[in-house]
Amino acid sequence: MINLLVTGSNGQLGREIRDLSSEYDSFHFFFTDIEELDITNKTALQSYIEGKDIRYLINCAAYTNVDQAEENEDTAQLINAVAVKNLAELASNNNIIPIHISTDYVFSGENFKPYTETDSTNPQGSYGRTKLQGEELLKETTPNHIIIRTSWLYSPFGKNFLKTMIQLGKNKTELEVIADQIGTPTYAYDLAKSILKIISHIEKDNNFKDYGTYHFSNEGVCSWYDFAQEIQLSAGNKCKISAIESKDFHCLAKRPHYSVLNKSKIKHIFDLEIPHWRTSMKHCIHRMNN
Ligand SMILES: NC(=O)c1ccc[n+]([C@@H]2O[C@H](COP(=O)([O-])OP(=O)(O)OC[C@H]3O[C@@H](n4cnc5c(N)ncnc54)[C@H](OP(=O)(O)O)[C@@H]3O)[C@@H](O)[C@H]2O)c1
Repeated sequence: MINLLVTGSNGQLGREIRDLSSEYDSFHFFFTDIEELDITNKTALQSYIEGKDIRYLINCAAYTNVDQAEENEDTAQLINAVAVKNLAELASNNNIIPIHISTDYVFSGENFKPYTETDSTNPQGSYGRTKLQGEELLKETTPNHIIIRTSWLYSPFGKNFLKTMIQLGKNKTELEVIADQIGTPTYAYDLAKSILKIISHIEKDNNFKDYGTYHFSNEGVCSWYDFAQEIQLSAGNKCKISAIESKDFHCLAKRPHYSVLNKSKIKHIFDLEIPHWRTSMKHCIHRMNN
């Protein structure tokens, strides 16, 4: 039996891993969120793992409110960076492989082709800055790590763009949505499945050496406007979606105009097949309706 610790497991990604866990007979999961295990508390981390023989730590815990992070950078930094260093030290001292999730917001958004793992980072806001610090602290503390940068995450759980659009689309006749930010939505279910496949892959390969940073999102490219249109269609809402520019939509944090991730590396190393975002969006809406 392989023991896995999942932190932040009440969030979107954590809930998906929880839902999938019963399909993995050889994995034993310890699911925690801030109430059971606050990742900012170093002592609690060490005492939680005592006697549990944890082999992998999937860190789904994060400060994810991009706009609030502009006003609470200290808190965002504590959870997204300082606590990641705690987890990295825990992993390093206890022979645990950390699988840490990061974001497309580590990039400036000035690229004209999908970002690869080696492209220069230059976050535009506090959230991206603190997530990048977390990546750097993890890398310098423990070489045997996996960092997965993802983008535009949604699921049937928690708060996300897809759920907001479905809800608003039910009650409004028209919505204005930003059309000049281009990226790829990521269905948390697909990411959760891929994380568990990555762990199975590492377990099977006695000589695994491909630690490092990877990019994961669904396939395809769209703007928030395109995504919103497809959501309304699939949800059966009649709401009209109008395109607006970022400059006409007030929010605290600056976001990248282009943050499409190149997924060649993760697909190649772990032999992953990733669905198109439209297929996965329909799967998610179908689940929510049932
Ligand atoms: N959401 C996106 O669009 C997006 C995009 C790119 C990358 N990501 C990354 O993907 C990962 C998963 O995101 P998500 O959307 O699943 O996040 P989420 O839904 O916000 O879940 C994060 C979970 O972590 C918990 N948490 C916060 N502080 C904690 C602490 N000190 N100790 C333990 N748990 C704590 C949160 O609890 P509370 O709710 O009580 O705070 C929440 O349950 C994160 O690393 C995020 O940065 C997300």
